[in-house]
Amino acid sequence: MQIIKTVSSMQDYTLKMKSSGNDIGFVPTMGYLHEGHESLLQKAREENDILIASIFVNPLQFGPNEDFEKYPRNEQHDIEIAEKNGIDVLFMPPVEEMYPRELGITIQAVDRIDVLCGKSRPGHFDGVVTVLTKLFHLTLPDNVYFGIKDAQQVAVVDRLIKDHNFPIQLHMLETIREEDGLAKSSRNVYLTEQERNEAPSLSKSLQLAQEKIFDGEKNPAIIVNEVKNYINTHTTGKIDYIEILRFPSLKPITEVDQQVIIAVAVQFSQARLIDNIILMPDGTSSPVLG
Ligand code: PAJ
Repeated sequence: MQIIKTVSSMQDYTLKMKSSGNDIGFVPTMGYLHEGHESLLQKAREENDILIASIFVNPLQFGPNEDFEKYPRNEQHDIEIAEKNGIDVLFMPPVEEMYPRELGITIQAVDRIDVLCGKSRPGHFDGVVTVLTKLFHLTLPDNVYFGIKDAQQVAVVDRLIKDHNFPIQLHMLETIREEDGLAKSSRNVYLTEQERNEAPSLSKSLQLAQEKIFDGEKNPAIIVNEVKNYINTHTTGKIDYIEILRFPSLKPITEVDQQVIIAVAVQFSQARLIDNIILMPDGTSSPVLG
């Protein structure tokens, strides 16, 4: 496995690989790799000649009061995980390499961002689409792999790829969970012991919602209420949002009559956790971007 830290070496590598006819798979991450990331790496490894992963904690997608400085980092551990998953190139640029000067041209996400995390984290998705545009140019992938864990991110990347004509196939992979249902996340390390015990309530509340829909409930307000009551009675966290929307358009609904996402965000003392489930009106789940 090669570790590349500069933009110019990354470009040289991808141009060489593309000109010799290789398919490139790319998995962008912010590191502190866990089994969720590994599932993306494994799928990408199976489907491509060349596998590139990036580890870059992107300052542009963190708000002024968010956890950029505190975001967990462990380079040595990440290199070991990357090696284990058969990555060809691990791209780990320093911030100055990705942003050597203030950007004179910015990219702004306008659709699919006025709800969920986009609403509570203004500017976050501008940072995400900006760094991904740069990373896509640097790695020239045929296939990119993202987790449904961050479903709004997938919906926004879907627009980025389509609106800006990237010749890239977007793959959306299911959420990998701990045994008790808690979605794996780099931020889980910031939960206190009590919060860690409470945290599986997020996925449990989503299962409850799924049961309701399965039983024929079509009214989004009733489902949201059920989820809210469950989280409020089983955690000390503060609910940031609970929403049911169409997926992937993220438009509001008055009735569960098409594919929907039920998404929750809960702020604990040192970590904000998100989770979601994507369901058809009959309560089954096999998410599609459409
Ligand atoms: P990061 O949070 O490191 O996540 C990288 C990828 O791993 C994302 O596609 C995310 O959805 C996926 N992922 C995280 N937890 C997962 C889980 N439990 N199961 C399955 N997949 C999971 O998302 C980012 O980084 C950044 O915003 C990035 C896209 C790299 C842009 O900076």
